[in-house]
Amino acid sequence: MSTEELTEEGFRQRHPLISIRNVSKVYESRTGPLHAVDRVTFDVTDGEFVSVVGPSGCGKSTLLMMIAGLFAATEGTLEIGGTRVTEPYTDIGIVFQQDLLMDWRDVMGNVLIQAELRRLRSADYIDTAKDLLASVGLAGFEDKYPFELSGGMRQRVALCRALVHDPKVLLMDEPFGALDALTRERMTYDLQRIWQASEKTVVFITHSIAEAVFLSNRIVVMSPRPGQIVEIIDVPIPRPRVIETQESAAYGRIVTRIHHLFRDMGVFT
Ligand SMILES: Nc1ncnc2c1ncn2[C@@H]1O[C@H](COP(=O)(O)OP(=O)(O)O)[C@@H](O)[C@H]1O
Ligand SMILES: [Mg+2]
Repeated sequence: MSTEELTEEGFRQRHPLISIRNVSKVYESRTGPLHAVDRVTFDVTDGEFVSVVGPSGCGKSTLLMMIAGLFAATEGTLEIGGTRVTEPYTDIGIVFQQDLLMDWRDVMGNVLIQAELRRLRSADYIDTAKDLLASVGLAGFEDKYPFELSGGMRQRVALCRALVHDPKVLLMDEPFGALDALTRERMTYDLQRIWQASEKTVVFITHSIAEAVFLSNRIVVMSPRPGQIVEIIDVPIPRPRVIETQESAAYGRIVTRIHHLFRDMGVFT
């Protein structure tokens, strides 16, 4: 079944793919222990798009790195597909705010690095890479170098690199944070389209309330550090969401709700 046909209720009936239980993270820093994430519990259903929003420094990136198995949790458990995450999880793609492209490799070479790092035969991934690049409007750019691309194009290449090995889970940490506002908005529409076509399970970190509401099935709202979950908000707005969705009452109500949560936590004062 494609995601378009799934109602929000339909998602609930699928199994949780990612399960986060009472996860805390305390960093040992030079100035003593630093409590970054505090007893976070939520599930992400197979095929779901979940955003995590919260003020800067509340532990969003730390949480993402723990889901990826790149940082260890101090307490609590994380599972993906029923298996405890205790080391870097491989069936995953990650997009960061910085595109981390290699300047000396062309676009195709940058996408294929994913296969090389996984010791897969990169020749087997050329067709997939071409299709992915075409799907983000970069057909014909395969032999361009990063310096020849705009910020938005570079981030599209990073997205293709994260997807070329067809991972089940896509983690995104403020992927559009370094882009100008209009490029950012366009990337939001593109990401929705790619997610709907690919059926990936996405955890998307952002501090943009508007972006989270537009893209997500559910939004995890976090408090200032140590980051705790304040509320998990459903976004029962039909898909595909379009430009006009942002003028709808349902969209406006959810944006306002999150805004008020942040106001009540003193994030703006
Ligand atoms: N490797 C680290 N060592 C010590 N403190 C860290 C480390 N990484 C992040 N922190 C601290 O943990 C807190 C949460 O950071 P982070 O997860 O990056 O938050 P966010 O992504 O929400 O901005 C911040 O106070 C940050 O300074
Ligand atoms: Mg961060």
